[in-house]
Amino acid sequence: MPNSSYGSEFDAPGATPDGDLETQLMDTFDFTNGSLCCDSHSLSDIADQFGTPVYVYSARAFREHYAALRDAFAAIEPRLCFSIKSCHNVHILRTLLECGSSFDAVSIGEVRRALEAGAKASDIVFAGVGKTPAEIEAAVDLGVGTFNAESAAELDVIAAVANKARKNVRAALRINPDVDAKTHPHTTTGKDENKFGIEIGSSPALFQKHKDDPYLSLVGIHLHIGSPVNTVAPYVEMVTKALELVVKLKADGVNIDSINIGGGYGAEYGHQSSATPREYADAIVPLLKDSGLKVSLEPGRSISANAGILITRVVYLKESRTKQFVIVDGSMTDLIRPALYDAYHFIWPVSPAGGVAPSDRSPAYRIEGARPVDIVGPVCESSDYLGRNRFIPAVKQGDLLAVFSAGAYGAVMGSQYNTRCRAAEVLVESDGPRLIRRRETFDDIMACERNL
Ligand code: LLP
Repeated sequence: MPNSSYGSEFDAPGATPDGDLETQLMDTFDFTNGSLCCDSHSLSDIADQFGTPVYVYSARAFREHYAALRDAFAAIEPRLCFSIKSCHNVHILRTLLECGSSFDAVSIGEVRRALEAGAKASDIVFAGVGKTPAEIEAAVDLGVGTFNAESAAELDVIAAVANKARKNVRAALRINPDVDAKTHPHTTTGKDENKFGIEIGSSPALFQKHKDDPYLSLVGIHLHIGSPVNTVAPYVEMVTKALELVVKLKADGVNIDSINIGGGYGAEYGHQSSATPREYADAIVPLLKDSGLKVSLEPGRSISANAGILITRVVYLKESRTKQFVIVDGSMTDLIRPALYDAYHFIWPVSPAGGVAPSDRSPAYRIEGARPVDIVGPVCESSDYLGRNRFIPAVKQGDLLAVFSAGAYGAVMGSQYNTRCRAAEVLVESDGPRLIRRRETFDDIMACERNL
């Protein structure tokens, strides 16, 4: 359920505006001549060509969002490891690779995706609370750059695998700093009660234990306290605690050369509640500047959320005594965030009647004299909605709707529930739109079940 005290993008409207909406969105989706475009390519044409529901991404937005973070943090020259889980299409990873990105992977599958995109294994950080011994063996074999380890038992496995393979392996220990990221309970990861990382007080013993490992170099600290973390204070608290730990470790003769401060940097969903890259950097950089540590970041959403939208078509309109429903062909199987977190995504017709562009994207948006509508999918669950109580210009069967800020945790969390085929994905590049994931077919779905 939404909880407005979490101060996140799940917030009710009214959160403190931090800077100008357009600079935060850096949006490449805009209403040109009354119809929504992505980098001046008509989304109506894209929907006609590739069908719906379809995710449409802007390569330019990925590049600009990546550059905004890189430039904001330039004083400490961090390594940006794009969090693959937020938007994993290999063509998009390739776009980010061209920007100089490294990658944060949380399964051997994501490691393989990054390699398929052309990343060097040494530029991949392998995180995750439950890496299996088989995954660790495969990753050591592939030469993955750094393991972010999350438990004593996992460190033992990494050390044993490295010894057996006689390969040098770098690792960081994920510290759980017990800091409240003030985000949704489902995506809070830095509190004591969360399954992630090692409690700060018991970490020195682990560093000591592995200090003289012949093949495992445990030389880094990893942190990630939640997603999204819309304010800077939790980062300041977490980094401060981590640096105190580094001082203690160094005094005890443990060599620490790097710190990975994770992801969680917010994206603008329409609430104007997220800090900007510059604001995060202004608070974090001074803490790390003279630490002598190599810094990594693992941004996902802040790069991908506003680089993608979901286009869906109106199938039917219907009215009950209390509600008006717009039934569309996109659903919780395409975008589960509203169902899972009651997350807010701004929705607007691609070609609104009268060409009306929205004046803002906030949940408080109202149209005088209009009745709100629920925008729902065809899946057999009442939680299958994309937006509730929304004021949008009148739509009719066959019209297209755009669901904004859907580039992060959208397509990647898609499912085949109700035997629905996962959506197509299109990337708009300077020379136009191209298909980067074909729509799944019924035969794709059945392939794992046939001939058994
Ligand atoms: N690093 C680690 C260790 C993570 O667990 C995550 C996200 C990130 C980096 C990237 O966080 P970002 O910069 O994207 O906020 N499905 C949820 C979000 C789950 C985030 C999981 N971990 C959602 O739709 O909001």
